[in-house]
Amino acid sequence: MAPSIKDVAERAGVSLGTVSNVLNRPDKVSEATRTVVLAAIAELGFVRNSQAAQLRAGASRSLGLIVLDLANPFFHDIARGIEDVATELGYALVLCNSDEQASREDRFLQLLEEQRVRGMLITPVGPTSERLDALRSRGTPTVLVDRHDPRVDCCSVAVDDVAGGELAGAHLLERGHRRITYVTGPLSLRQCKDRLTGLRRAVGGDVEVDVVEVPALKARHGYEAARKLFDDGADPTAVFCANDLLALGVLRAAVSTGRRVPEDIALLGYDDIDFAADAAVPLSSVRQPTLRIGRTAARLLVEECDHPDSHTHQQIMFRPELVVREST
Ligand code: RIB
Repeated sequence: MAPSIKDVAERAGVSLGTVSNVLNRPDKVSEATRTVVLAAIAELGFVRNSQAAQLRAGASRSLGLIVLDLANPFFHDIARGIEDVATELGYALVLCNSDEQASREDRFLQLLEEQRVRGMLITPVGPTSERLDALRSRGTPTVLVDRHDPRVDCCSVAVDDVAGGELAGAHLLERGHRRITYVTGPLSLRQCKDRLTGLRRAVGGDVEVDVVEVPALKARHGYEAARKLFDDGADPTAVFCANDLLALGVLRAAVSTGRRVPEDIALLGYDDIDFAADAAVPLSSVRQPTLRIGRTAARLLVEECDHPDSHTHQQIMFRPELVVREST
């Protein structure tokens, strides 16, 4: 049976309240008493039940993070940026993966609220979430990550994905391409839709843009989409992918069917994950400042948690950057 706070009090010969003060308000206890109580804690191997303490205090020191796809290195860097700041500011991070499924997201939102997380960071699966709105209305500070939604009254941190699509379009136009295929995840995801908007805005009427929508932004879907394009005889001279994982799948399809990149087909990704530079043909990509997105989101959330009265919501948009490599 784990030693209780009562065991500590008896061992130290003090009241329960004194032990609680040593744990929560040590400045209210004399040095001598603090020494005796801490010695009893060490001898008994007492570990405080932070959840019980949190429920009493109503304020946890944990933040919840729900990412869209933990297999995507983009979210590793997002989570790393968030965790850097959360740890620096005395918070723990509870990481969940919705895997682009609304049902999983819903379950994790409920679990994190039951865990009384102090605040929430999320890249939502859909444009809206009733559960998320309810959680926020019950007072859980929330920051949208990799999502910009002016309609929602909370902080958000993202990159300007329309500008990112424009960078991609202008680059392929400048490389002389007049028929571009956009391979994308579900266009219900704002980031996928905004990248297409930017692409179309950049190329205007001079270029034909074919859109191939796949079920999820994973490499195997990029591979399958490209194989189908090639088998159907649609040989685009350029493919812009909504993220690098899709582009790596298209690259594998091109190489495995004897197509040269970029000579036969130019290839452009998005995110500039670490694997982009190390791909079989180094991948051109629209870079997101991923660590900065994570760090900024965490700072905004902790500020709202620790200083709710003086906090004002901010919607922060970083600008993406084009990184040109061999694949275009
Ligand atoms: O999660 C899908 C994509 O959206 C990521 O690759 C990243 O581009 C994000 O914005």
